[in-house]
Amino acid sequence: MSKPIYVLNGPSLNLLGVREPHIYGTTTLDQVKAMCEARAATHGTTVVFRQSNHEGQLVDWIHEARADASVIVINPAAYGHTSIALLDALKAAELPVIELHLSNPAARDDFRRHSYVSRVATGMITGFGAAGYELAVDAAVRLVTAQA
Ligand code: DQA
Repeated sequence: MSKPIYVLNGPSLNLLGVREPHIYGTTTLDQVKAMCEARAATHGTTVVFRQSNHEGQLVDWIHEARADASVIVINPAAYGHTSIALLDALKAAELPVIELHLSNPAARDDFRRHSYVSRVATGMITGFGAAGYELAVDAAVRLVTAQA
């Protein structure tokens, strides 16, 4: 894999570790980033790991990924349920997309059952907490290797 895996995180994930820990766990986003970097290193690759509370910033990073990434892992957080802009950007990226959620949104509120990102995702990883990010890095490597 010559290009990195982009791991993008949406709103309020900066508060991971203190935000509703009974749902999202106590691992912080910095710790998740370190987990992703370590996991990627075992595969001989790297991650670009980012978080924003702003939809347009996420769109800009997805556009950047189009040229600079091999695959996009995205936890869109609440924007997954609302954002056609993220869906369109992900379509335009023309890359494999892995949708990731710490919780299992399908087992929660009705409004979390719909995801625009799912329409363009190759696959989803949900409900495994912070460990889901390691699974996503593994899945990303598999996807790209299978394409090679
Ligand atoms: C989340 C699930 C979303 O429904 C929620 O809005 C989030 C976090 C998750 O990782 O479980 O912010 O994406």
